[in-house]
Amino acid sequence: MSVLDVHVLGAPILRQETAPVTTVTDDVRRLIDDMFETMYAARGIGLAAPQVGRPERVTVVDVARDKDPRQPIALINPEIVLQEGSRRGEEGCLSIPGVYGDVERAARVVVRAVDRDGQPFEVEGIDLLATCLQHEIDHLHGKLFIDYLSILKRRAALTKWDEQKSKYPALTRVIVPVSVIADRPDPEDE
Ligand code: NI
Repeated sequence: MSVLDVHVLGAPILRQETAPVTTVTDDVRRLIDDMFETMYAARGIGLAAPQVGRPERVTVVDVARDKDPRQPIALINPEIVLQEGSRRGEEGCLSIPGVYGDVERAARVVVRAVDRDGQPFEVEGIDLLATCLQHEIDHLHGKLFIDYLSILKRRAALTKWDEQKSKYPALTRVIVPVSVIADRPDPEDE
């Protein structure tokens, strides 16, 4: 498994529609493994394929707080089939490091997807998992959490990003595993 570079805001692939996976091949399983490794290294709670430069409709999530035990969920071709309630929560994104904002989302969702063995399954997400699933599925359709911010808040977020983005001249971010850097504050990045 390898830790992959993460594409950051400005990389065109983050705004592109993904392609549904027609057959779950070993290549797709390797992508899933690498995405988990990258997400854990970055201490994120979710990661979508376009963030690592891949066009497949694939995402991984794990909202377990201390990751012990881990609760990994890999979703291929995920679709929200039910959503209800609403919840406001602060979100971040591994592709927009240092930028956070409150987003209102459904408080509960049911997502239908295919697993790494090609089998269909459904997962219910409540609260943080609901937010995370919606955030990641948005990524698979070229949408980012900053799109939901009010004009003023989005402008502030983009100003903050302007100060950061010179660190990523190639619009990619090399993930340094968290074990070798100091603790980072909440909230989680997705
Ligand atoms: Ni994200």
